[in-house]
Amino acid sequence: MGCELSKLATTKSRNQAGNDGSSPPPPPPAATDPRLPLTARQKFTVIASWKAVSRALEPTGIYMFIRLFEENAELLNMFTKFRDQKTKEQQSTSMELAEHAKTVMTTLDEGIKSLDDMDAFLTYLHEVGASHTKIPGFNRQYFWKIEKPFLDAVERTLEDRYSENVENIYKLTIKFIIETLIDGFDKAQSDKAKS
Ligand code: HEM
Repeated sequence: MGCELSKLATTKSRNQAGNDGSSPPPPPPAATDPRLPLTARQKFTVIASWKAVSRALEPTGIYMFIRLFEENAELLNMFTKFRDQKTKEQQSTSMELAEHAKTVMTTLDEGIKSLDDMDAFLTYLHEVGASHTKIPGFNRQYFWKIEKPFLDAVERTLEDRYSENVENIYKLTIKFIIETLIDGFDKAQSDKAKS
């Protein structure tokens, strides 16, 4: 016991001051990619907490879309596969809506899981943003309409794990995702205009 304590004490003093020249200095805290608007700790938290959402992509996505159409009924018209499903009850049991919800949530899943690799994250979400230029009647501002429904849906899935800190980090994350989708959308549109 006494021996263990003295070992701890030795370790501590080595870590603290310990520069007699024999051990290398501790590494600096890992720098995050300057393009990512999250600290290393926030990135860690969102990736960790997302694991619970990742196991419930479909129900989270269905709830997100129900909330989206509750607040923006007119957007339903763009979805040719389920635009006739106008009530909450119809939407919550629609196979077509569930399918689409899963597609969108899988995109968000890929995005959040690749927050550690900004090149992968940006390339992937730019592409998804660009794909929306082919949707008749789609406006770049519509991406922002999913912000609140997304946060509501994550809150519902995470329940008491959705602390104030976690909420704050999801707000930063969805904002960054939407900005990235819009960048991809804009770039695709200006490339189209040039050709
Ligand atoms: C988090 C934001 C969003 C993500 C990640 C996302 C992702 C996707 C993906 C992966 C697809 C299918 C494949 C493709 O065409 O590339 C898609 C299709 C589509 N998205 Fe989005 N989307 C988002 C937001 C929105 C919003 C807010 C709207 C409408 C207000 C919308 C409208 C549509 C429509 C109409 C389609 C075509 C559906 C079909 O007919 O199959 N998206 N989206």
